Amino acid sequence: MGLTSNQQQLIKAVAENNMQLAKKCAIACTVEDTTQKNAWFCEKYKQILESSGGNMIELPYDLKSILCVEDISNSFKDDRYYLSDREKSVFENIVRMKKVNERLMEMGIPYLNSALLYGESGTGKTTFGRYVAYKMGLPFCYLNFSSLVDSHMGSTSKNISKAFNYVISNPCVFMLDEIDCISIRRSDSSDGGASGEMARVTITLMQEFDKLTNDIVVIGATNRMDRIDEALLRRFSLKHEVKPLEREEKKELVYKFLDDVGMDFPAKEIMPLIERNKNQSMLLNELVRLISKRIYAEAE
Ligand SMILES: Nc1ncnc2c1ncn2[C@@H]1O[C@H](COP(=O)(O)OP(=O)(O)O)[C@@H](O)[C@H]1O
Ligand SMILES: [Mg+2]
Repeated sequence: MGLTSNQQQLIKAVAENNMQLAKKCAIACTVEDTTQKNAWFCEKYKQILESSGGNMIELPYDLKSILCVEDISNSFKDDRYYLSDREKSVFENIVRMKKVNERLMEMGIPYLNSALLYGESGTGKTTFGRYVAYKMGLPFCYLNFSSLVDSHMGSTSKNISKAFNYVISNPCVFMLDEIDCISIRRSDSSDGGASGEMARVTITLMQEFDKLTNDIVVIGATNRMDRIDEALLRRFSLKHEVKPLEREEKKELVYKFLDDVGMDFPAKEIMPLIERNKNQSMLLNELVRLISKRIYAEAE
């Protein structure tokens, strides 16, 4: 039997050192093989390939270090995501505004579909952005603020403009994560130097915001709401505090996760975890440790 076209593509991608494409082709290979004897192998490696980071979309060279664009249609684990009623209303609002954006534009009503999520770290702000992209079937696009700011002084503003230009012509969910890294209140930064640069960056950010049209979805996130410039805050049509999950909600999240990975633990092992851990991040870490212990013990 000869090579299928997916297998050929895979070989070509590996030869060209294009791992993104190689992964995509490898997944396609696992899907096209329907023989019973390979079922276990294909399922296993499809899972691993899909969870080893998202599928990054190739960007032009000058954007690569600033912006990340991910196709998460295969990698987001919807079955493990717990959507609280509070975040559900934000999600529904974003979807509604996206649906009516054209109509609003026709009526001459500008509305930027932008939401700023604030709240403690580990409460699921970034994950919510990914969820929105997944549900809307759009690429998840995020600014890499750390490399933006690390790069030479003065080039930060230019980089921000480049990123916004890309977003304007490529439909996506645009996430400005940890926005406090770059936007500080201009009143806090009158001493010139590094903070003077940051004040300029904040102004650029706002100017770029004002170029965005109704059809673009922007999600900002921060755990330092107090550091964000008021004028930038106004650019977000919606501000929403992401609160740590309640006890019952954490329980649901844990059982969703366990269900999805096909594992079961007695309540007496799960409840202390839920009581002890304040946010999703800590809770899931501990849950993974619990699961690992079980797998390890079973392998012994
Ligand atoms: N609602 C949720 N359902 C399932 N997992 C979640 C949820 N929120 C967060 N997580 C998990 O918790 C971790 C931390 O979430 P993250 O979005 O990074 O928090 P934040 O951006 O607020 O610091 C992530 O690994 C994510 O998988
Ligand atoms: Mg985050």
